[in-house]
Amino acid sequence: MERSGQNDPRYVVDDLIAEDIDAYLDQHQHKTMLRFLTCGSVDDGKSTLIGRLLYDSKMIFEDQLSQLEADSKRVGTQGEEIDFALLVDGLAAEREQGITIDVAYRFFSTEKRKFIVADTPGHEQYTRNMVTGASTADLAVILIDARKGVLPQTRRHAYLCHLVGIRNVVLAVNKMDLIDYDRDKFEAIVAEFRAFADEIGIADFVPMPISGFRGDNITSLSQNTPWYEGPTLVDHLETVEVDTSVALRKPFRMPVQWVNRPNLDFRGFSGLVASGGVTPGDRVRVLPSGKTSTVSRIVTMDGDLDSAVAGQSVTICLADEIDCSRGSVIASADDPPQTSDQFEATLVWMNDESLHVGRAYWLKIGTQTVSATVQQPKYTLNVGTLSHMAAKTLQLNEIGVAEVFTDKPIVFEPYADNQALGGFILIDKMSNATVAAGMLNFSLRRAQNVHWQAIDISRKARADMKNQVPAVLWFTGLSGSGKSTIANLVEKKLYRMNRHTFLLDGDNVRHGLNKDLGFTEADRIENIRRIGEVAKLMADAGLIAITAFISPFRAERDMVRAMMPEGEFIEIFVDTPLSVAEERDEKGLYKKARAGELKNFTGIDSPYEAPESPEIRIDTTAMSPQEAADLVVDTLLGDR
Ligand code: ADX
Repeated sequence: MERSGQNDPRYVVDDLIAEDIDAYLDQHQHKTMLRFLTCGSVDDGKSTLIGRLLYDSKMIFEDQLSQLEADSKRVGTQGEEIDFALLVDGLAAEREQGITIDVAYRFFSTEKRKFIVADTPGHEQYTRNMVTGASTADLAVILIDARKGVLPQTRRHAYLCHLVGIRNVVLAVNKMDLIDYDRDKFEAIVAEFRAFADEIGIADFVPMPISGFRGDNITSLSQNTPWYEGPTLVDHLETVEVDTSVALRKPFRMPVQWVNRPNLDFRGFSGLVASGGVTPGDRVRVLPSGKTSTVSRIVTMDGDLDSAVAGQSVTICLADEIDCSRGSVIASADDPPQTSDQFEATLVWMNDESLHVGRAYWLKIGTQTVSATVQQPKYTLNVGTLSHMAAKTLQLNEIGVAEVFTDKPIVFEPYADNQALGGFILIDKMSNATVAAGMLNFSLRRAQNVHWQAIDISRKARADMKNQVPAVLWFTGLSGSGKSTIANLVEKKLYRMNRHTFLLDGDNVRHGLNKDLGFTEADRIENIRRIGEVAKLMADAGLIAITAFISPFRAERDMVRAMMPEGEFIEIFVDTPLSVAEERDEKGLYKKARAGELKNFTGIDSPYEAPESPEIRIDTTAMSPQEAADLVVDTLLGDR
């Protein structure tokens, strides 16, 4: 039931403008829909509240209900009442055993509306949920425990809601029963929140005294709060006006999810219309290629449509056979989105491991996935005080602004204009974890003004002239493992064979190109990134580039590998045990490191990540440097 209903016409409802909704309702007798999310810390009663809403709207299946009653008795919660938190937590547990779902959506409905409430397990997940799921949330319920008042967490959630563009906010002061429905305390909490809301620009919010556990002011006004004059929570959720016309008024954009090509007679592009509307006959532009065509048909499971609007999932057919694939964006021809590869972005860091400046992550934006690096943040934001702070990286839960570079241009719009084309996530290439959510603020001007220069003499022509296939021989291993010695022998041998080579060595490059870099993790990443770029240029020039750097991190070695054509990156792991390298200690650096006089020394107090499947592995305890060099040259030239 989770996301499968995307083609369901009901999804469309709330994205239609008001008149359309009425027409739609007449036609289909469907109710409008509100998507919302609840934000609160674990103990604020979020599960209880969602459970209560589901229960009161009779969305609980009978068998779950009896189970719940039994569980509540067993756990011995207050009296004989049902503990609604058990319901939601139970569903969550069930979900965890099954397929992993990033964000779980729960459905319920009342007589007036249907609801989708975004539900996520831990609070870090909320962050992610709010940011990535924002384009689908119309409203946020910010929960406060009446006994605790406004917490840093509350400010954080409110700020994130605002940041991601949610304009309807309910401040639900929960557990009123536990403070004896004290009006003064309630007012004090509301005043404190209002002060913060004013500062961050939340123009308006609806405060409510509730108890999810007792049911006060949820579906009916409570006797316990005679002083409260506002609506019940359900009342408000049922009647709040959602400004859904915004997406409709914007120009047409549809990111292509997949190309539907069942046979040679049909070729359609399927996706969810992100903004605007489209009708057959419309001129459209496909990005990034920029080619134009005309919409010939709009196809759905239930037949062809005369038009499609934001929120609808459709398949679009074009009059011309033009280049269009997953990740492309079909847009109105006269008013297309931009493409760029350099941006300023706001990032919310969501991983225990902090941002590695310069490391390549996957950047997923809509249906596009590219490789991207993040520069050192310009600043991070203190959500409590709203002040800017200098930072070298981003830690878990930090919000910062930084420049982001992608390896190829992406189709985008600033997040403020279009959430679907401006919101992205970053994924760690090794662990596949989502590490950050972000919003593109704007494209850097320099990206618009720097173009690739087409060069007539090809890479192949240059290599042919030298009678060789270019390559990068990438040596990696601990300091003192023997990388430079072997690399040097390899180069001499190739030179004698009339091969054109160039050796880049750690100690040497650090005197020139990289003399501004030290040995912190960030500096090492940048060191390898630059070497990688230089080695690539050398291979482009037709050379066999040989590099001898510790290059301790797998991610950066893989980044260089990914820059090179298949088969031209040869990773050579000089596998010398730490004890042996330390024993040799030709530069006396291990001794210094052990004595604490040299910080961040690889193998001592800085990690070395050994290659998992290098092209060549050299065991220097079993092989002389000359034998090792022979092995490398034989492997390189064996199939060339
Ligand atoms: S890398 O980690 O960034 O790839 P690189 O290969 O350029 O390192 O430089 C390593 C050389 O710098 C070592 O062989 C050693 O001579 C010297 N060096 C100085 N300080 C350190 C340190 N803290 N860790 C490792 N090598 C160091």
